[in-house]
Amino acid sequence: MKYIAEPFKIKMVEPIRMTTREYREQTIKDAFYNGFSLRAEDVYIDLQTDSGTGAMSHTQWAGIMVGDESYSGARSYFHLMEATKEIFGYAYNQPVHQGRAAEKVLFPALTKPGQYWLSNTFFDTTRGHVGLAGGRPIDLVCAEGLDTTTYADFKGNADVRAMRTFINTHGVENIAGIVMTITNNTVGGQPVSVANMREVRELADYYGLLIVIDAARFAENAMFVKQREVEFRTSTITDITRETFSYGDIYALSAKKDAIVNMGGLIGVRDDEEIVEKIKANVIPFEGYLTYGGLAGRDIEALAIGLKEGLNEDYLAYRLGQSQYLAGLFDEAGIPYQTPVGGHGVFIDAGKLLPHIPWYQFPGHALAIELYIEAGIRACDIGSLLMDRDPVTGEPQQAASEFTRLAIPRRVYTQAHLDVVADALKSIKARAEQVPGYEITWEPRVLRHFTAHLQPVKH
Ligand code: F0G
Repeated sequence: MKYIAEPFKIKMVEPIRMTTREYREQTIKDAFYNGFSLRAEDVYIDLQTDSGTGAMSHTQWAGIMVGDESYSGARSYFHLMEATKEIFGYAYNQPVHQGRAAEKVLFPALTKPGQYWLSNTFFDTTRGHVGLAGGRPIDLVCAEGLDTTTYADFKGNADVRAMRTFINTHGVENIAGIVMTITNNTVGGQPVSVANMREVRELADYYGLLIVIDAARFAENAMFVKQREVEFRTSTITDITRETFSYGDIYALSAKKDAIVNMGGLIGVRDDEEIVEKIKANVIPFEGYLTYGGLAGRDIEALAIGLKEGLNEDYLAYRLGQSQYLAGLFDEAGIPYQTPVGGHGVFIDAGKLLPHIPWYQFPGHALAIELYIEAGIRACDIGSLLMDRDPVTGEPQQAASEFTRLAIPRRVYTQAHLDVVADALKSIKARAEQVPGYEITWEPRVLRHFTAHLQPVKH
């Protein structure tokens, strides 16, 4: 796999620190074997998330300087409104401080206690907010999405037939709506086709249900659509985005991903005034006045610029190319991952790489810890550790797949960094059976993976 060279050059650098294996062994122990508790300075290559970790352009940094900090009606807000209207085509667009703020504002306004929300797969915070609003999140991804070894163009798609059956079985009055996550983070940053969006729209129209697009990686999704869905081969990324969003009613967007800012989020409503009023009523007490929504004027200015930069095709080809390059190195080394590789990183199939570790000892987490000890690389579990306990029974829940996610920050690491990652994985693979599983010694009630304490299981 050829590396697609960066469509930018480097103007500012941030040194990173190399550490010894002994140092890292002690450091991760002190952090209760939870990568979130490490000091970032003790990490060499940080692939924990692609969220808020991107490098802004010189144009965005210039935007920071001209951001308007007025409490209401700031110039930067109107720049953001121009950008959002042009890109998404929705009547109402609301800045908020990040994606989960959008979720906190939206789900209580749209959920009656006990109602189900169906999704092609919820991201963990979205799942958490559905639960906090009294709703019940149900994942219904297409069968291909759960099979990590075979190729499919759009593994992020919803299983529309399963959604229809679920609605018929449980009664439409018990369904709050449908969330379409693009790209589908939890199944590996896998794209959703426009054809699937159309089918879900038909289903929602038939039953009179709302569609919320969880749009964190909408631009990467649009690039996949251009590359893989014949109908869109000659379309622009903006046209594909407009078309995709035309099948939703509302979007919630973490701008920390494809809009390449370190903080920010958005909510959009296509044309429902009643929902807009509910959103406004929640935004003002939780996030702040409507024209800043928890963000500084400079953040809003950088966001308005970043939203457009994130749609540039040369950038998106390079961006998807980084994951493809890393996956190509894994192919050579026989390291299993969600195939084909997704947009924002590589999801290693830790369940397959570490078959001696049962799901309740978290293979995805075990591999992440081993990568840190091996080479100072920080990754995270997208598997059974990420699954909170069943809110009703309190039982641990098994994830559909045990992934270790290597999320690639935008415009940050080079080809040589990716080579270091592949080498570390090769050396772990050579001694895979020595990698221990983990058990939880303390955990909070929701979103446990962020703060849980763990320890290696002794045999
Ligand atoms: N939706 C999706 C699909 C996400 O991936 C995330 C965040 C959110 C919503 C929440 O947005 O972080 O701005 O509050 N994902 C990050 C990740 C944290 O690492 O995948 P947020």
